[in-house]
Amino acid sequence: MNPLQSLIDTRLASGPVPAAEVMALGLYHPEHGYYRRQEGPWGFEGKDYYTALDLGPLLGQTIALRLEAAWERLGRPARFTALEPGAGRGWLGRDVLNAVSGPFAEALVYIHRDDNPAARRAAEESLSPFLVANRARFAGENEPLEPFTGAIFSNELFDALPAQPWRWDGERWLREVLTASGPQWQAADPGEAGAWFAEQTDGLEPRDGSIWCEALPGLVHDLVAPLEAGLFLAVDYGEAADRLLAKGADLRRFKAHSVDGNWHEDLGEADLTADVDFTRLAACLEAEGFSSVPHVELSRWIRTHAPLDQWAPGWMALPPQERIRRTENLLHLTLPERMGSRFRVLEAWR
Ligand SMILES: C[S@@+](CC[C@H](N)C(=O)[O-])C[C@H]1O[C@@H](n2cnc3c(N)ncnc32)[C@H](O)[C@@H]1O
Repeated sequence: MNPLQSLIDTRLASGPVPAAEVMALGLYHPEHGYYRRQEGPWGFEGKDYYTALDLGPLLGQTIALRLEAAWERLGRPARFTALEPGAGRGWLGRDVLNAVSGPFAEALVYIHRDDNPAARRAAEESLSPFLVANRARFAGENEPLEPFTGAIFSNELFDALPAQPWRWDGERWLREVLTASGPQWQAADPGEAGAWFAEQTDGLEPRDGSIWCEALPGLVHDLVAPLEAGLFLAVDYGEAADRLLAKGADLRRFKAHSVDGNWHEDLGEADLTADVDFTRLAACLEAEGFSSVPHVELSRWIRTHAPLDQWAPGWMALPPQERIRRTENLLHLTLPERMGSRFRVLEAWR
């Protein structure tokens, strides 16, 4: 029997369990959580989902240019530290490190931060030449870092944080919970979440609703604490707060390349995600002293920052299969209805 199912059954015997707690258990139980278990298949091996990194190096190449621009803006410091929380298999770090050259490459030190054991093993392989050359290193999630100048960047970190769905029924807030007979919406006091949602709209309609990530301000605070000056860049699945409310955002389960709302099933064996409230992420960063916190569709960000005209001749010189892969990589990140419109990029400066 699924060990997490036994745990949740014991909890359910004494009452309903909020969806955010079920998500926390499913993803982060220290032994059996989807992102904490030692044994696979995990995510990509199990083909539950893929991220922009599985499509090719374009995201990493574009981030590399944004990091280099940040290094220039900081006055070309001799050491530029780039911390990646939620770094998974290390593929984004690898793509960034492969893309840089010259004095910026000499200044750049990459830190992979993610306690996911299966991902860490994969990252030891993907980052191996950079680890050997002391251009990359690992840091545990709770390991304090020396103050640094540079950047913090992530891909799909914030959508993997436990989040609680809420619905407005026209009169009161309902919270999604798991009961012994399945998921239900039950009236509850939304506290800070209710105040936040109400601020984001001119008027709530029945069935409006969004998700509330309790841990977000604390995580942002901890991540940015050592950054003395530089860039914060987040790529993630999500929307502005008002759009999430209008769509009635909910949790999603990814399993074997299909996506559904059965967040309570296959705990520890399926990925669970929640949309990122970009308005709130920006507000958390502003509270930490960051200025200029715009967020745009990934597609627009790529079209703004990737010098495709300079890259095209190099792509044309690649073997046909690789050339097709690059082109598909570009289309996935830029065409409407693909990742380009479902993902957003937030850039903030301190
Ligand atoms: C959806 S995966 C994305 C992995 C990778 N960025 C990618 O795009 O392939 C989310 C990752 O975030 C990690 N994670 C969750 N909370 C974290 C935290 N507080 N600090 C660092 N990593 C965290 C999980 O262990 C998991 O590996």
